[in-house]
Amino acid sequence: MSIVNAREILMDATRKQYAVGAFNITNIIQLEAVVEAHVEAKAPLIIQTSVSPAKFLGQDVIVAVYREIAGRSDIPICLHLDHCTDVDFCKSCADAGWTNIMIDASKLPFDENVRQTRMIVDYSHSVGDITVEGELGTVSGVEDQVKVVEDESQLCNPDQVLRFVEESGVDLLAPAIGTAHGVYKTKNPKVDFERLGQISRLLNGDKIRTPLVIHGGTGLPADYVTRLIAEGGSKFNVSTELKRTWIDAVYEYISANREEYDPGKLDKHAKNAIKAKVTEWIGMLGSAGKA
Ligand code: 13P
Repeated sequence: MSIVNAREILMDATRKQYAVGAFNITNIIQLEAVVEAHVEAKAPLIIQTSVSPAKFLGQDVIVAVYREIAGRSDIPICLHLDHCTDVDFCKSCADAGWTNIMIDASKLPFDENVRQTRMIVDYSHSVGDITVEGELGTVSGVEDQVKVVEDESQLCNPDQVLRFVEESGVDLLAPAIGTAHGVYKTKNPKVDFERLGQISRLLNGDKIRTPLVIHGGTGLPADYVTRLIAEGGSKFNVSTELKRTWIDAVYEYISANREEYDPGKLDKHAKNAIKAKVTEWIGMLGSAGKA
C-alpha cells in the first residue's frame, strides 16, 4: 500500500475533487519532513526529485531511503522524477525504483513530444508498476535544468489534448495554463482556469481517464488553489517554496546561534520549518484524512 505510483493516488483525488501535494526535495531531511507532515495528516503524498538532486544524492540512495521510509508509513507514497528531458535518464530512474516519471518533451514539436512520451510510457509500464506524466504547452520559469522564458511559453491547446493522451498513452497530463515555476512577480498571476476546466471535461468529463497536474505551486493564492481543484487539478507541484523555506530556516538558525556547533539542532529547526509549510499545503489541497 505504501509504495505506489502517482496514477493510483490521483484517480481517487480527481474523482473526489481534492488534490495531492507533490513536493520537490533536495536532501534526506527535507524528505523526512515532507513524509512526517503527511503521516500526521493521514494524507497521500508524492515526493519529487528533479534531475540534479537525483544525480547529486545518487539514484540508489534516494530509492533506498524512499523504500525504507514509505515501507514503514501507513500512507501511500509515490516517488516522482520531475521535468526530465533526457529519455535515457528517465529510463534509468524507472529501472532504479521511481514510481512516476515525468518526461518533459514539451519544448519539442507536438509529434516529437508524443514520440518521446510514448517511448517512456512503454518502457516504464514494461519494467514495473510505474506511471508517466507528460506536459503539453510549456510552463514558464526555471525548474532545475529546464528554463522557459515567459515570452516563449505557450499555453496548452485543448484541441491537441485528446490526441496527445491517446497517442502517447500518458498516465497524467500537465497542461500549461499560465502557472509558472519560481516566484510570481505579481500577487494575482494570470492563470487560465477556464482552459483547465475545458481540458478536464475533455479528458475526465464522462469518466476519469487522465489526472491533471498543476505546476508552479509556489506563491499561488489559496483561492486560486481552490478554483484549480474545482476545475480538475489533482496534483500540485511545489518546489521553490520548500527550497526557500529550507535556506531561510538554516540562515535564521545560524544567525541566532552563531556560537553553537550542534548540527542536530540546526537540522531539527529546518525540518520543522518544512513540516509547517507542507502542513499548510495539505490544508489548502484538502488531502488530510484521504490516505
Ligand atoms: P514551483 O517551484 O513554482 O513551486 O514549481 C514547482 C513545479 O512545478 C515543479 O515541477
